[in-house]
Amino acid sequence: MTFTAEKPTGSKADVYRSLEKQAVALLGGETDAIANAANFSALLFHAVPDVNWLGFYFHQPAAGQLVLGPFQGQVACTRIPVGQGVCGTAFATETTQRVADVNAFPGHIACDSVSRSELVVPLLFKGRCFGVLDVDSPLPARFDAVDQVGMERLAQVYVEALSVPPVCLP
Ligand code: SME
Repeated sequence: MTFTAEKPTGSKADVYRSLEKQAVALLGGETDAIANAANFSALLFHAVPDVNWLGFYFHQPAAGQLVLGPFQGQVACTRIPVGQGVCGTAFATETTQRVADVNAFPGHIACDSVSRSELVVPLLFKGRCFGVLDVDSPLPARFDAVDQVGMERLAQVYVEALSVPPVCLP
C-alpha cells in the first residue's frame, strides 16, 4: 500500500471533501472490514479537529449487543446493548444521532468522562445495519450539520469498500 495522509486545510466542508478523497484512496483495493476500519479510524482521528475518540462498534446478533471494533482514543466500553446509549440508539433506529450534550442524552454511556458531544452514524450493508461509526468530542455541541453530512459520506466510503460486512447480518 502506498498512501500518505495529508492534513486537510480550508473550510470544514473542504476538510471533509479532502478526507473523502483520501479515504477512497486509503481503502481502495482492500476489502478486509477490520483492516479498513482500523486505517479509517486512524485517518480521521488525526485529521478531524477536537475529537477525543473515533471508531467502530459492530453488531453481534446472537448477543443483541454492539461490540467494540477498531478505534483511536482512550480505551472504551467493549459491549453496548442494542437500543442503549447513543450508539445503541443509532443502531436500533438506523438514524444518525447528533448529540450536543451527552449528559442530557437519556442512557448515554460514558466511556471517557472527557466526552461532551457525540456523533454516531449507522452503517448499512445492502440496506441492513451491521454497526455504527462513533465520534466523540471534548467540546459541547462540537458537531453541526456539515459534520453530520461529512461523516455520513465518509461512513459510506467505508461501507462501499467492503465485499462482506465484518459480522453476520441477522
Ligand atoms: N457514548 C457512547 C458509548 C461509546 S463511547 O463514547 C466510545 C454511547 O452512549 O453509546
